[in-house]
Amino acid sequence: MNETKNDLLLRALLRKPVERTPVWIMRQAGRYLPEYRNTRKRAGDFMTLCKTPELACEVTLQPLERFELDAAILFSDILTIPDAMGLGLSIHEGEGPIFAHPVRRPAQIEALAAPDPEDALRYVLDAVRLIRTELKDRVPLIGFSGSPWTLASYMVEGRGSKEFTLVKTLLYENPVALHKLLATVTRSVIDYLNAQILAGAQAVMIFDTWGGLLTTSAYEHFSLDYMHQILDGLIREVDGERVPAVLFTKGGGQWVERIADTGCDAVGLDWTVDIGEARRRVGKRVALQGNMDPAVLYASPDRIREEAGAILARYGHGDGHVFNLGHGIQPGVDPDRVAVLVDAVHELSVSYHRDQKPR
Ligand code: CP3
Repeated sequence: MNETKNDLLLRALLRKPVERTPVWIMRQAGRYLPEYRNTRKRAGDFMTLCKTPELACEVTLQPLERFELDAAILFSDILTIPDAMGLGLSIHEGEGPIFAHPVRRPAQIEALAAPDPEDALRYVLDAVRLIRTELKDRVPLIGFSGSPWTLASYMVEGRGSKEFTLVKTLLYENPVALHKLLATVTRSVIDYLNAQILAGAQAVMIFDTWGGLLTTSAYEHFSLDYMHQILDGLIREVDGERVPAVLFTKGGGQWVERIADTGCDAVGLDWTVDIGEARRRVGKRVALQGNMDPAVLYASPDRIREEAGAILARYGHGDGHVFNLGHGIQPGVDPDRVAVLVDAVHELSVSYHRDQKPR
């Protein structure tokens, strides 16, 4: 038996019956919340916030104080791994993430090593342990990592990018060097996620934010294969409880069958995909998480309810759906609109779980 009082998320990710559809929101702890902005100001800068477990715990819990969310997600960032590898991360308002020491030449790639998470990333594991204590099993805690391709993109570019020209040049000109980088990052992601799981993360999610920029063949060889390796290396059960793993490739709608075949428990969908069609395509292999357009949260309460209802209807009756946005919530959103969404999902989803019809 799971000890978590509200374990709807875990059940839905494992396609077990639920009374209503669970909901959480990517970037649910973030700049749209005034209390987050206050804590961030107190921390001084974003990385200090991440590296101080008490503050990371505080902001993780903030959205749960306001909204009836069905999960907590660890407050951290995907770029902690390259930071721990020595690339020197800083994140400044309006500039996005920047690495002081990007890796571009084969010799720099060769010199990288996977960090020991209990050492260089101990602050993340301490945050996980503290959050689990403070959560008191109210809802499950989700741990996460970036995908190797997405992390490698930032490591090579040194910052966010629209075109990702440098990493794509490496892909076409020196695939051997890129594969070497991806292998090192993959080793590190496996160690990092397993350490999060052992520290108390009850589900894990891999964010492949930039996989959708690749051709189908490049996606398979430079992103999906490495995520598959991660799934093969993950601890999938702790104390008899399955630890579900979610794969999210932004822009990956055309590849949902292949993503489902990696052995993940659930596939995250961005808003460009029809979730009902995606469900038919993956069948009973995986659960689906998503996928409301984050911009809906700028609309009126009535429109938000309508859009939430439309997604629930597209998914249809039965288990295997975790409601979420198709990407992170934007900083300009009014927090009251989030309350409208969460309440709408709870209320409108009940009828889809009564007298469940077979898929
Ligand atoms: O979901 C959550 O609430 C957990 C926290 C979380 C953050 N980043 C906090 C954060 C998670 C899961 C992430 C993942 C992340 N980080 C991704 C993958 C998900 C996605 O959005 O595609 C990516 C690509 C990053 C890299 C990154 N970190 C970016 C692009 C930015 C935004 C920079 C900016 O100024 O807009 C960050 C910083 C960041 N990570 C913020 C938050 C709340 C904002 C920083 C701030 O407080 O100023």
